[in-house]
Amino acid sequence: MGYRYSCAGRTLTPAPVPTLFSPDHPDAGTLAMPSTVTFRQGMRVLDLGCGNGLVGLCAALTVGAENVWLCDVDQDAVDCARKNADTNGLPVHIVLSDAYDALDVSGFDLILLNPPYHTDFAVAKRFIEKGFNRLKIGGELVMVTKRLDWYRNKLTSVFGGVRVTERDGYCIFRAQRRDYARANTRKKG
Ligand SMILES: C[S@@+](CC[C@H](N)C(=O)[O-])C[C@H]1O[C@@H](n2cnc3c(N)ncnc32)[C@H](O)[C@@H]1O
Repeated sequence: MGYRYSCAGRTLTPAPVPTLFSPDHPDAGTLAMPSTVTFRQGMRVLDLGCGNGLVGLCAALTVGAENVWLCDVDQDAVDCARKNADTNGLPVHIVLSDAYDALDVSGFDLILLNPPYHTDFAVAKRFIEKGFNRLKIGGELVMVTKRLDWYRNKLTSVFGGVRVTERDGYCIFRAQRRDYARANTRKKG
């Protein structure tokens, strides 16, 4: 059975694909993340590791579908996200991509991430390190996980700081790009 999710005055109905993350209900972490950000018309948004696309499609309802990119390394996820975008009349950009590798866009206001569970930190490390240059100055990387220390340390070392909110057992991290260079590559003195 699929589910219905209300967002920005509309009801989204993602198709239930059993091989994808949380196919029959929206994950609490998935929902916690966008609830901490304010979407505005015209913002450029990337939902990386989009799964069925719920987060990016929600964002598209406010920022405009033409300003939203959804990426996933899993072909089933990309197919499902495309179907959900079509069903809901949201012509977002959907890209099959290993992290940012196949994405030729930057200048994002927001990069939204719910990284894969049950893996080592290699994927999350790429999402964070390579995400820095994909943001515009003032743009933010927003990430939800159940783990605190590694993510707080990593985001602080790359961005120079991070804000953490805990909600429903999840940590939501917001790190802003404030400079052209990553914090851990800036010259001292
Ligand atoms: C925890 S799920 C989150 C799915 C969706 N964002 C949500 O919140 O419902 C993590 C997603 O990251 C994707 N993923 C894993 N490794 C990836 C990579 N290297 N590049 C892009 N996506 C990846 C998985 O296929 C999966 O869809």
